[in-house]
Amino acid sequence: MFPCDTNFNYNSGFNSYCYLGNFKTLIMSNINITNEDNIELMKRYPDNYFDLAIVDPPYGINTTNMKMGENNGYKSTASKVKGRLNSGGGKLKNRILNNSNIDWDNEIPTEEYFKELFRVSKNQIIFGGNYFPLPPTRGIIFWDKLQPWENFSQFELAWTSFDKPAAKIAISTTGGANKEKKIHPTQKPVELYKWIFKKYGSPEFKYLDTHHGSGSISIAYHDMINYWKILEKNVANSELIGCDKNEIHYKDSIERIQKHTQQQTLF
Ligand SMILES: C[S@@+](CC[C@H](N)C(=O)[O-])C[C@H]1O[C@@H](n2cnc3c(N)ncnc32)[C@H](O)[C@@H]1O
Repeated sequence: MFPCDTNFNYNSGFNSYCYLGNFKTLIMSNINITNEDNIELMKRYPDNYFDLAIVDPPYGINTTNMKMGENNGYKSTASKVKGRLNSGGGKLKNRILNNSNIDWDNEIPTEEYFKELFRVSKNQIIFGGNYFPLPPTRGIIFWDKLQPWENFSQFELAWTSFDKPAAKIAISTTGGANKEKKIHPTQKPVELYKWIFKKYGSPEFKYLDTHHGSGSISIAYHDMINYWKILEKNVANSELIGCDKNEIHYKDSIERIQKHTQQQTLF
């Protein structure tokens, strides 16, 4: 955990939100999220510091011709989706996409990114793993998005480093029981992250998220910590470290997390 003693900016009682050097950071019990590039973040950590990295990089690429670290000639997924939404329905998603800075979706994670990710973490769960040249694995996750429109992805795959049977989870991104407010164009459901923490995580683990986005992972982790505490698990050394380099997404996510933690929502 970083000390937060310079240029103090915000203290809600539960969390501090302040400037440290030239990047901002959210500091609350067990969670530290910064507004910076993920390579910069990972460089500060020793080998195998994190027990589990749960990451969701941009997939904005043409899979068939993909070369890691290059994006020439590829059309971003977000801009294709945005075009499609502009020509038809989906008003809610359309508004989010139009109000969002989605330039980041043109950027493909570099080889350096993956080297750093595998250096600092013992195990990894990588959403969109089918877009990246990763080693074969049997332990993939199949996330059924329970959405009926064939023109949109009906499921997503996550690559995992676990030698476990492939697993399936069905959770809606928007409909059904999912009533979460959308603040990010590729926001994943909090329930999806809770499922991951329960199935692949452990109360004492240190977690890394290099593409924090809307902060769904922080909300899920916050609730899991409370849940593990009720079960009298030792969470003293557990932490979630994350970052997002986009300032708008970063600020939106911090507000969302603070709103959630102030409500002290349990399951
Ligand atoms: C696919 S979204 C993640 C969505 C997230 N899982 C959620 O549930 O909201 C990818 C995020 O990574 C951020 N990003 C892209 N490149 C980055 C980098 N090099 N360092 C840090 N963040 C980055 C983008 O700003 C974007 O918010």
